[in-house]
Amino acid sequence: MMGQHSILTVNNLNIVVSTPHGVTQTVNDVSFELEAGKVFGLVGESGSGKTMTCMSLLNLLPDEAKVVEGSIKFRNKDILNCSTEDVRKVRGSEIAMIMQNPMTAFNPVRNIGCHFIETLRTHLHINKHQAREMAMAYLEKMDLPYPENLLKQYPFQLSGGMLQRVMIAITMSLNPSILIADEPTTALDATNQLQILKQLDRLRNEYNTGILLVSHDLGVIAQMADEVAVMYGGYIVEKASVLKLFNRPKHPYTRALLQSRLGLTRRKEKSVKRVSVSHRNLINRETACPFIERCGDADHTCANNRLELKEYEKDHLVRCVKLQ
Ligand SMILES: Nc1ncnc2c1ncn2[C@@H]1O[C@H](COP(=O)(O)OP(=O)(O)OP(=O)(O)O)[C@@H](O)[C@H]1O
Ligand code: SF4
Ligand SMILES: [Mg+2]
Repeated sequence: MMGQHSILTVNNLNIVVSTPHGVTQTVNDVSFELEAGKVFGLVGESGSGKTMTCMSLLNLLPDEAKVVEGSIKFRNKDILNCSTEDVRKVRGSEIAMIMQNPMTAFNPVRNIGCHFIETLRTHLHINKHQAREMAMAYLEKMDLPYPENLLKQYPFQLSGGMLQRVMIAITMSLNPSILIADEPTTALDATNQLQILKQLDRLRNEYNTGILLVSHDLGVIAQMADEVAVMYGGYIVEKASVLKLFNRPKHPYTRALLQSRLGLTRRKEKSVKRVSVSHRNLINRETACPFIERCGDADHTCANNRLELKEYEKDHLVRCVKLQ
């Protein structure tokens, strides 16, 4: 969409997962670009493939998952075909990730200081004293009080909100070009949530970091993102600027979401009309619209067309046969 400023370009990403019951396609034809200093929001119900997409950007997919098609370009680096060593260098210092539950990122038996200083020294050629000074400066930047004491504390001694802020301080001390934030505020209360969002916003302004923000919360996306992609069943079904998407949603799934007729938790749909039984028999699983069984606008034309994400209007893409 905004090609020349992009620092990360994901093109036609397809990921399959092998389970004891067979192989399932969990991410289908996902393409997007991330620009420096911008927030790209990814929204979609549970299981729609958001985390899988994020993990693939750092070549960190679980063993059972595999990218079978597509490309991920970070600047001129082809992430999917880099050596393990090259990807390791990119991770943390160029592309960093913060998770929903910050506790999982810390070793419970090591204090914050050990963790912070070691991370800095792994990526930067600095001595222990310099690393300590730097750690304290970044904790202060995150408005965390008494940084010297904080360095002596263990993860379990901190609240979820504080730990997430420590995590962001560690992440940002490496000055990454890209921050992947996968549900960074879901586990937090409203006050902490607001603080984290403010800090993320400040960081992108100050450091020009490009942020990929995954959230279940449409309010968070509306407040933070410049551009948004809505995922359903592993597909991006709509992609547009935040203004267009929220003011003029086109895809039936996005429209239902915004009218609160669908929750973002799987199988919590409410009053959405289901496709009729006669149409259901015509569905070709390979080519049918992924939303067909929950779509109020579905008919036979939705059952047998391989759908592409197409421009509905400039910079507004939709994957729906009725809108193309
Ligand atoms: N380790 C795994 N093994 C097998 N299947 C998996 C694994 N991780 C995820 N999946 C499946 O892949 C699909 C996509 O999962 P993913 O975690 O990307 O969803 P998500 O959009 O991040 O959901 P949530 O909002 O709940 O975090 C889901 O159907 C899930 O069941
Ligand atoms: S293609 Fe058909 S089933 Fe899919 S969203 Fe559009 S109208 Fe609904
Ligand atoms: Mg997830």
